[in-house]
Amino acid sequence: MCGIVGIIGNKPVASLLVDALKRLEYRGYDSAGVATLLKGKLDRRRAEGKLVNLEAELSGNPLDGNVGIGHTRWATHGAPTQNNAHPHFCEGVAVVHNGIIENFSEIREQLSARGAEFTTDTDTEVVAQLLASLLRSGKTPKEAMLATLKLIKGAYALAVLFDGEDGQIMGARNGPPLAVGFGDGEMFLGSDAIALSPFTDDITYLEDGDWAVIRKDGVEIFDGEGKRVERPRSKASTAYAQVDKGNHRHFMEKEIYEQPEVMSHTLAHYVDFASGKVRDLASEIDFSSVDGLKIAACGTAYYAGQIGKYWFERYARLPVEIDVASEFRYREMPLPGNQAALFVSQSGETADTLASLRYCKEHGLKIGSIVNVRESTIARESDVVFPTLAGPEIGVASTKALTCQLSAFAALAIAAGRARGTLIADEELNMVRALSEAPRIAGSVLNSIQPQLETLSRELSKYRDVLYLGRGTNFTLALEGALKLKEISYIHAEGYAAGELKHGPIALIDENMPVIVIAPYDRHYEKTISNMQEVAARGGRIIFVTDENGAAANDLETMATIALPNVDELVMPLIFTLPIQLIAYHTAVFMGTDVDQPRNLAKSVTVE
Ligand code: AGP
Repeated sequence: MCGIVGIIGNKPVASLLVDALKRLEYRGYDSAGVATLLKGKLDRRRAEGKLVNLEAELSGNPLDGNVGIGHTRWATHGAPTQNNAHPHFCEGVAVVHNGIIENFSEIREQLSARGAEFTTDTDTEVVAQLLASLLRSGKTPKEAMLATLKLIKGAYALAVLFDGEDGQIMGARNGPPLAVGFGDGEMFLGSDAIALSPFTDDITYLEDGDWAVIRKDGVEIFDGEGKRVERPRSKASTAYAQVDKGNHRHFMEKEIYEQPEVMSHTLAHYVDFASGKVRDLASEIDFSSVDGLKIAACGTAYYAGQIGKYWFERYARLPVEIDVASEFRYREMPLPGNQAALFVSQSGETADTLASLRYCKEHGLKIGSIVNVRESTIARESDVVFPTLAGPEIGVASTKALTCQLSAFAALAIAAGRARGTLIADEELNMVRALSEAPRIAGSVLNSIQPQLETLSRELSKYRDVLYLGRGTNFTLALEGALKLKEISYIHAEGYAAGELKHGPIALIDENMPVIVIAPYDRHYEKTISNMQEVAARGGRIIFVTDENGAAANDLETMATIALPNVDELVMPLIFTLPIQLIAYHTAVFMGTDVDQPRNLAKSVTVE
């Protein structure tokens, strides 16, 4: 996902823009650039790769000017080259863009036919070319901006500078978020509150269709018809200001170790541990009357939803249909009567998840969302928000957000069970007690398994393929483990239902294919041990993730056995995901990959 920043003030902005872009690095990018206006003239510096390359460019060839825009680019159209890096220029117009201009080819053809000469392979350049052509036709910058926004289609957050207009930055939003920051005699523009946190926590988010003229003394916001509108100003969470790695090597490691704390914050939001009850969720979703629940999400958030499905169906007898968000709305599934929909997203900006939300809203469903960014688009378009209190998650690989999503799902499933009469008070009390233990157990697990997992991961980093197996909620953890490993170590990994092994994947088994089996001593244990025997009989190397009871009961030889504490079944996913995360993390460290910003990945995918 690209990052946008803009500053208009009373001092040189180039280095400030780069500092703000550094706070957006977590989004993933492969080139960057800044542009400033000095005495009415635009100038820019751009570089391939990381921001250090842009800084080198600027130190060798400084940029002056008290108004500027900056961008980190995650390539969608056009290779990640310097020439394709933003800001894009065209005859006195500079543009940075997050999103996709879906009708860029058509506009490019029209403008080329009228003599426009394109110099990049990007969709973004059409915005600069359009603005320039409208200025040439005699329109003012504001008129040109309004006309351009009526012509382009797709998802965009834009920041624009005009030659001769040192006193303003223009911004526009349709999809990817864009925030205006209020300073003292200076103003800011950014993709999110994290980018603005070095300058201000006093922000306004533009709404879809809004565009704005930002000057040193304030902002004018307009709707798609050019009518002035007001948008609420809010104080961004101060948590964003403290976003740093602490004494950890990577944000991902820090966030793994933050889990006991943020799980307890999230659980405390939903559960009254004193009374042993889940709090009354004054919720627009009445679980006692809904006939069914739809869930849509992507990646790790989808896996949280899968486990939520197990819990809603098992403890509340509530039928749940779940799909990855990119498939969900294209299935055109029946959405009868009294259904509710739940969307899970750490960033709250994932395009496929947002599109699925809007699809369900159009069909009249009550919309709930489990999100980590309270002011995100998904949160703002939901009837009810169930927050995860994980704090900013910077590492591209989602870790603490997952365990907080599971904490929220566990509480919601208990609340639904109580509302539907499928859980009696004693059962609720026992489940809440088990949940209340989860943060402490997580802390002890994280402090005890690190040395063993580092040794194991060094071994695992020698392999090119890994298979994860599990049953029940551990099947979902097998899928999540495979995703974690592949996305940060680039080792090919697959998760499979253990019972599916003999239906195909067993053909893969030999000494070159480590098999990570996730199997606590629960009702699936014996069957999973049989699967492990099938693997061992074919020379497969087994990494056994189990609990103390499971380790004691097993006499199969393994490459390693990770024995976690015996925990209540409800709490197992919260605890068994921890070694899965650490195996992926340490293996990636040994592989020498960019753990926090793996290649080709963005922290939030705001394009479909
Ligand atoms: C998970 O480690 C990945 N980074 C990715 O799959 C992520 O979970 C997915 O893109 C969904 O993001 P969201 O939670 O912000 O919607």
